Amino acid sequence: MSIKIKAAGVTKVFASRTGPVYAVRNFNLAAEEGEFVCIVGPSGCGKSTFLRILGGLIAPSSGEVTLAPGGAQVPLQNMVFQEYAIFPWKTVVDNIAFGLEMRGVQKAERQEIALDWIRKVGLAGFANSYPYQLSGGMKQRVSIARAFANNPEILLMDEPLGALDAQTRVVLQEELVHLWEGARKTIIYVTHSIEEAVLLGDRVVLMTAHPGTNKSEFAVPFERPRQFALTSTPEFGQLAYAIWKDLEGEVKQAMEQQL
Ligand SMILES: Nc1ncnc2c1ncn2[C@@H]1O[C@H](COP(=O)(O)OP(=O)(O)OP(=O)(O)O)[C@@H](O)[C@H]1O
Ligand SMILES: [Mg+2]
Repeated sequence: MSIKIKAAGVTKVFASRTGPVYAVRNFNLAAEEGEFVCIVGPSGCGKSTFLRILGGLIAPSSGEVTLAPGGAQVPLQNMVFQEYAIFPWKTVVDNIAFGLEMRGVQKAERQEIALDWIRKVGLAGFANSYPYQLSGGMKQRVSIARAFANNPEILLMDEPLGALDAQTRVVLQEELVHLWEGARKTIIYVTHSIEEAVLLGDRVVLMTAHPGTNKSEFAVPFERPRQFALTSTPEFGQLAYAIWKDLEGEVKQAMEQQL
């Protein structure tokens, strides 16, 4: 195994009217090639800020991000955001093909790739629909399909299922785990859900309350392919509970900060 992406001592300070705000502080993370790393931390601890730094959208105030030799910067279209970031004026197929179009892939080829991902995420029949004709879950599938269709070396996902109802979320969790097991991309995945992190990830990295830094991490030993049924086993429950016990104090601290 080799390290695909590494963040060392990443700190981000924003200026505000009341003085500097540390959004993330001295955070370290390294992901192996093909590893599914989940980041879990209390609200406002700096997860989205960190992911934006990894994606090159904002620069760190100090610390650095290095990609494996030969790896270019992570292109923006390889990020899946907290809210669906798809173009309302483009059809499903054109949204999914967008990154390929930007890279100069010819129309016939990008249509073929996009249609293949449309099938894989269960949107067959909706290729020519517009986002306003889709439910929230369907829009999120479009975002996920677009990210995978780009065939990126690294995927950055910021609570991609966070806005969905619980049942749609379960269906998409299973789908995502299946897609990843087929493609084995390096994924850095932010989620509030410990269960989701344990179901999907190889490793769960915990962040402290604001300003976020490394709290601890847990390896997830469960075999793949994984299915939702795993969540009903005692081993799954024990690991999820151990993670919660470790995180609980940080979550409470974050809630007090907000009072
Ligand atoms: N552009 C900005 N200017 C000033 N402060 C910011 C900016 N962006 C983020 N922050 C602050 O940095 C901290 C971390 O924000 P961030 O959005 O990264 O947290 P998060 O962990 O993603 O939260 P959530 O779980 O709610 O999505 C927060 O205190 C936030 O108010
Ligand atoms: Mg966030």
